[in-house]
Amino acid sequence: MCIILGIETSCDETAAAVYDFKNRRLLSNEVFSQIKLHEIYGGVVPEIASRSHLEKIDIIIQQALNKSNKNLEKIDYIAVTTTPGLVGSLLIGICFAKALVYAKNKKIIAVNHLEGHVFSSCLKDDFSTINVEFPHISLLVSGGNSAFYLVDDFGKYKVIGQTLDDAAGEAFDKIAKIIGFGYPGGAKIEQAAAEVGFKDFFHYPRLKNINKDLNLSFSGLKTAVLYDLVKRNAYNLQDGPVWENLTMELQNKVSSSLLVCIGDIFETKLKLAFKLYPGVKAFTFVGGVACNKYLVKRLQGICQKYNKRFISPPCKFCGDNAAMIAFVAGYKSYKNEFSPLTLDVLK
Ligand code: KG4
Repeated sequence: MCIILGIETSCDETAAAVYDFKNRRLLSNEVFSQIKLHEIYGGVVPEIASRSHLEKIDIIIQQALNKSNKNLEKIDYIAVTTTPGLVGSLLIGICFAKALVYAKNKKIIAVNHLEGHVFSSCLKDDFSTINVEFPHISLLVSGGNSAFYLVDDFGKYKVIGQTLDDAAGEAFDKIAKIIGFGYPGGAKIEQAAAEVGFKDFFHYPRLKNINKDLNLSFSGLKTAVLYDLVKRNAYNLQDGPVWENLTMELQNKVSSSLLVCIGDIFETKLKLAFKLYPGVKAFTFVGGVACNKYLVKRLQGICQKYNKRFISPPCKFCGDNAAMIAFVAGYKSYKNEFSPLTLDVLK
């Protein structure tokens, strides 16, 4: 018993994947991104997200089954993200999974979305999987989360530091919106920063007491960037961007200074993490923001210095996906951690 169908609908991606646990191999990984539906609103609209999941979920699951050359009869377990996320979005995936389980008499496995991200480090571009040594530290940075985890084993992990306010991805997205890049902005910030060589032009404030603990905070940084733009007459608090002053050069410099600042914060915190947990063997960088090659390079550099293995999954497994959900369900099935069909939803 080892073929698992994973379903992920926690936010704005409808995703399904098939994973062969016995051979530790992904057989398919399908994602429908709703970005186009939300970008005109400058962020995810929960109502639109739920409706779109409902429209797409059967199609995406069928695609994942087709690409894996399996039909539902060949699936042993159905894994679904049950928390955290937008409730209306989660419910679409959960209800669909429950219906399949009822109809086909399968077993269901509830998976925590963040646990999925933490173990996405085991997924490789060619659909094979790798072993990541334990214990290791994982930095999960996405649009909704920013946290350091100490990972002792499969399914055994704890938060050792987290954002006290916004996620780093949210800071990228909000500032991108302020400087007119649209939503989501992380990738555009990286492109703009590259144009001016990833230099620190404006020296935005780093965290106070940065070496105190592994917690993070990005809302002060967001405000600092906003007020710096107001001071430069490039942004008006009532009317928004002042386009004649918000030049492309300024957009690039803001992007670059922001990225360097966040890179400095992550670097300092990672060094502290290695001091606090000297026995860890590896570090993994996961979540949508881990698509950022500049940040990957900087954190990789720190790992080299401290002689720790660095792992970051390919971009397709950094953003929300169902492969990571099916992967987690693999070791859960091995430990007999199935969920009741009543499924303690949203826990
Ligand atoms: O993991 P993810 O897909 O899920 C959500 O939290 O929804 O992460 C999305 C986040 C967004 O904030 C996006 O701006 C950010 O990841 N992101 C990036 C890059 N690519 C995506 N941030 C920085 N640099 C990138 N290249």
